[in-house]
Amino acid sequence: MNKLSHIAFIMDGNGRWGQKKKKSRNFGHLKGVETVKKIVSASAKLKIPIVTFYVFSSENWKRPKTEIKFLFKLINRYFTQEIESVISQGIKVNIIGELNKLSKDIKNTLKKAVYLTRNNKKIIVNLAINYGSKNEILNAAKKIKNKVNLKNFETNLYTRTLPNPDILIRTGGHQRLSNFMLWQLAYAELFFLKKLWPDFNQTDLKKIIVKYKKSIRNFGKI
Ligand code: IPE
Ligand code: IPE
Ligand code: MG
Repeated sequence: MNKLSHIAFIMDGNGRWGQKKKKSRNFGHLKGVETVKKIVSASAKLKIPIVTFYVFSSENWKRPKTEIKFLFKLINRYFTQEIESVISQGIKVNIIGELNKLSKDIKNTLKKAVYLTRNNKKIIVNLAINYGSKNEILNAAKKIKNKVNLKNFETNLYTRTLPNPDILIRTGGHQRLSNFMLWQLAYAELFFLKKLWPDFNQTDLKKIIVKYKKSIRNFGKI
């Protein structure tokens, strides 16, 4: 049985979900946050050490301003109004992405959440915010200058010492990576679901884990 230490999620399909319900795209994002909370608590119960969520890509700035504003309002609200619950669940928050380009307000909220949860041990919730994998790789290359080796390179990625994801789950029907963890997913088991993110649930997660545990991971060997 394969060991499982890290699951990454590309939570796609919020906008379509909202529209399907004859409501707004933002309504879908609101529901998407509920799914994140449920999946985090299910993952903690299943004793998964690390979960990563793709929250906002460096390409998502191309969306209408109103949608972008709403997304960051959701992030801010979650980490201000629900921080006590995050702490009591034993969640250690980690952020990957280009945080310097975010507003002061959001940056402070995120930094505070990371600080307040720094000693928590139950589960690491890693959020990719203003994240772009190509940029991450370029930045690492710039930082290490001529000291090029695997360890040095990997500790200069945003993920630093986190182990690579064992499983990638993408909801929403598209089978692509959209500039997400291109380096770290080199040997991940990939699961693409037609379901839109707000409809994704614990049972879907458990089914994937069962399949993963039985899968044969060769890493090049026979
Ligand atoms: C993914 O859902 C969430 C974010 C990018 C923040 P989308 O907003 O991309 O939803 P669809 O794919 O347009 O339905
Ligand atoms: C990927 O979804 C980004 C996030 C889930 C944050 P997108 O909806 O932005 O991806 P594309 O544009 O369809 O590839
Ligand atoms: Mg999408």
